[in-house]
Amino acid sequence: MNPNPLVFAHRGGADALPEHTLAAYLRAIADGADGLECDVRLTRDGHLVCVHDRRLDRTSNGRGLVSAKTLAELDELDFGSWHPGASEPPPDEPPDPDLTRLLTLDRLLESLREIGRPVRLLIETKHPSRYGAEVERRLVDLLRRHGLTDPAPEVGVAVTVMSFSALALRRIRALAPALPTVYLLEIPPPGVGRGKLPFGARIGGPSIGLSRARPGLIRSLRGAGHQIYVWTVNDGRDLDLVLELGVDGVITDRPRYVMDRITKM
Ligand code: G3P
Ligand code: CA
Repeated sequence: MNPNPLVFAHRGGADALPEHTLAAYLRAIADGADGLECDVRLTRDGHLVCVHDRRLDRTSNGRGLVSAKTLAELDELDFGSWHPGASEPPPDEPPDPDLTRLLTLDRLLESLREIGRPVRLLIETKHPSRYGAEVERRLVDLLRRHGLTDPAPEVGVAVTVMSFSALALRRIRALAPALPTVYLLEIPPPGVGRGKLPFGARIGGPSIGLSRARPGLIRSLRGAGHQIYVWTVNDGRDLDLVLELGVDGVITDRPRYVMDRITKM
């Protein structure tokens, strides 16, 4: 049992406000989340943007692949109005850009540095192999510019890079050895239950998808000394289960709800 796991807002806390918008991230921080989970992709002109899906269709008024557009083209789109949490602005007011505008990772990092309290940021690279090592290179360059590739408590933002690709994590460690990495597991490969991870994935994680999170697997991984973060824990039953198992972190679309329940226990 661990009644006090770290609480991370999945995609910025995708339940209350449109996922990956600055408004969602700032709300999660204001609600007291320990950290944020953020997916990143590359635009056609090499910018890292906070978007989960490969395509634009679900979370914006655009169409097609994120990777086929430039940052300037993506900046024209509305990434918030599809979500019920982004209510219509009064007719004479423009929409709140923090609720509707595409968020770059650069802007998110800048905003987090101004928060005034320590924040953990889990950055997940999406489909990194499609671009060779470009995603990792761009990511490490950006983090270095923000002074975030080495532990720097004075900056206040602690970054961990996560991926389903052990190769991508290996590249990150080659470029920035001090940056913590987490290996994401959804369909655990053989041997993982005995603490064996592919590609020598040296991990602060692994992080485990709840749909596959077998209690026995979590117990044996913890027994092998791994920290475990579980996604996506959104209701009371799942929360009770992972607290009972003693996980280190809970990744949730509903950080406020999870924190309220943990506090009341
Ligand atoms: O935290 C890991 C989790 O976010 C992976 O799943 O599809 O929500 O990115 P997905
Ligand atoms: Ca993710």
